Amino acid sequence: MLEQLALECFTEHLPMSRNGNGSYRPISSVWEGSDGELLEAMFKFYAVIPPEPILDSTFNAGRFWKVSKRRVVSMDKDAKYKPMIVADNRVMKGVMDSQFGVVVYDPPHVGPQGRDKSRKKFDVDFGATVECGKDQNWNLSYLYPPFLKQAKRVLKPEGLLLAKITDMVNNHRSKWPHCDFMRMAEEAGFTVCDLIVKVRNGPMVSNKWQNAHHARKRHCFWIVCRKSDDCERRNGKK
Ligand SMILES: C[S@@+](CC[C@H](N)C(=O)[O-])C[C@H]1O[C@@H](n2cnc3c(N)ncnc32)[C@H](O)[C@@H]1O
Repeated sequence: MLEQLALECFTEHLPMSRNGNGSYRPISSVWEGSDGELLEAMFKFYAVIPPEPILDSTFNAGRFWKVSKRRVVSMDKDAKYKPMIVADNRVMKGVMDSQFGVVVYDPPHVGPQGRDKSRKKFDVDFGATVECGKDQNWNLSYLYPPFLKQAKRVLKPEGLLLAKITDMVNNHRSKWPHCDFMRMAEEAGFTVCDLIVKVRNGPMVSNKWQNAHHARKRHCFWIVCRKSDDCERRNGKK
């Protein structure tokens, strides 16, 4: 028992290695570092084909790649971020089939805040400028199916889709887009391999909020999907 405990403590602090190479060094299901560090860890742990080229399909300011040397193709529907490809990721017009080892997706997780639906800095910085009202059932999950179809099309076989999804409260109800995303990814033909909880130090706060009815979220999810029928490598080989 003590030996088992010692082994668990030991493996927890080992540098994480590639999956399926015969050693037991799993990636942690809770991540306290940066998104960029987690992406790198996920490439090492889950990829069975070379991750590059990587398509970041919601590039914005490219915060994930600030210290990365990876070959990243940037896509955003908003030209002001100067992505390599200005496109709606639900259409990916002009992008050829089966060319990326990884697609990264970090969609808006809230709709427009307040009355001014386009000019608030928070909204624009975080891409919260898409419809999220009654017609959309007060959530943004309707964005996922057309995106998932395109992600599957442009990924190579065995490629990874890594999606950062944050749950939200809208119109006084909790919404669970991470559940929607996992279900919709399976429906689109992906295998959902893992769910990693990424935590940050402090929750988002606003001085306009007067009462709390829900736990203040200080986590989001990274969902790991593979364009394959398999979740796992087999003895390091496919
Ligand atoms: C949450 S931000 C992404 C932040 C980014 N990961 C970063 O680290 O800087 C979401 C981005 O997705 C873009 N976006 C939203 N809907 C899109 C769509 N249908 N196609 C392409 N880009 C979209 C927005 O313009 C916004 O820049």
